[in-house]
Amino acid sequence: MRIVLLGPPGAGKGTQARRLSESTGMNHLSTGDMLRAEVAAGSELGLVAKGYMDKGELLPDSTIIAMIQQHLANPAGVLLDGFPRTVVQAESLDESLETANQPIDKIVHMSVDVDELVKRLSSRAICKDCQTPYNLVSDAPSKEGVCDKCGGEVIVRDDDKPEAVLNRMKVYEELTAPVLDYYKSRGDVAEIIATGSPDSVFEELSQAIGSGK
Ligand code: AP5
Repeated sequence: MRIVLLGPPGAGKGTQARRLSESTGMNHLSTGDMLRAEVAAGSELGLVAKGYMDKGELLPDSTIIAMIQQHLANPAGVLLDGFPRTVVQAESLDESLETANQPIDKIVHMSVDVDELVKRLSSRAICKDCQTPYNLVSDAPSKEGVCDKCGGEVIVRDDDKPEAVLNRMKVYEELTAPVLDYYKSRGDVAEIIATGSPDSVFEELSQAIGSGK
């Protein structure tokens, strides 16, 4: 299957994509995680990416498309989280999948109100190595600063600082909300209110994609 998860910053795309990937074996493709890995490795792309990410700006479409292209065709299925984020990226995805004769099976939009998003992002931390997200108030790692899953260091993302969060919300409205309209005009978007517990959101998501988990 090929699934696209859409939603604003902090909607829980990464949290749910990880769970879905574990339960279905689908390959979780997160452009944000890929870019953070490049930043951590100090690569040329990482150095460029950090400048955009810290301000909450999107990288150029051509850079992102070149980065993700080779990962799209995967026999195990792909779960897209953070891509496409502009209409140009959505059109490019359509073209690539059409060429590979692998259409998108499901597009899911996860909506959460702005107050809850800001609350989530202001208390989020992630593992520097495996990128597992934590909530420092309600779902902190068992040992402070250490990832439960891999033992990596748990840190606060630079783009979760208040100014960057505000800009990410603005950029989402300007550049990513039109992607939702692009897909809605084809009538194939499943809507999920993603404000319940992670378990209940997972139930809803599984039903929406028909995975029966
Ligand atoms: P990216 O990493 O994709 O960030 P994002 O879209 O802003 O999404 P987030 O990771 O902030 O949120 P999420 O929805 O995954 O929520 P999460 O599960 O972590 O992108 C970062 C940057 O990279 C961009 O700003 C841009 O610069 C660049 N970039 C990436 N892709 C790009 C692209 N395609 N084009 C151009 N540039 C690109 O959850 C958030 C928190 O809430 C966590 O603490 C979690 O524990 C908690 N939580 C989750 N679910 C629940 C729940 N149900 N109840 C309570 N708490 C919950």
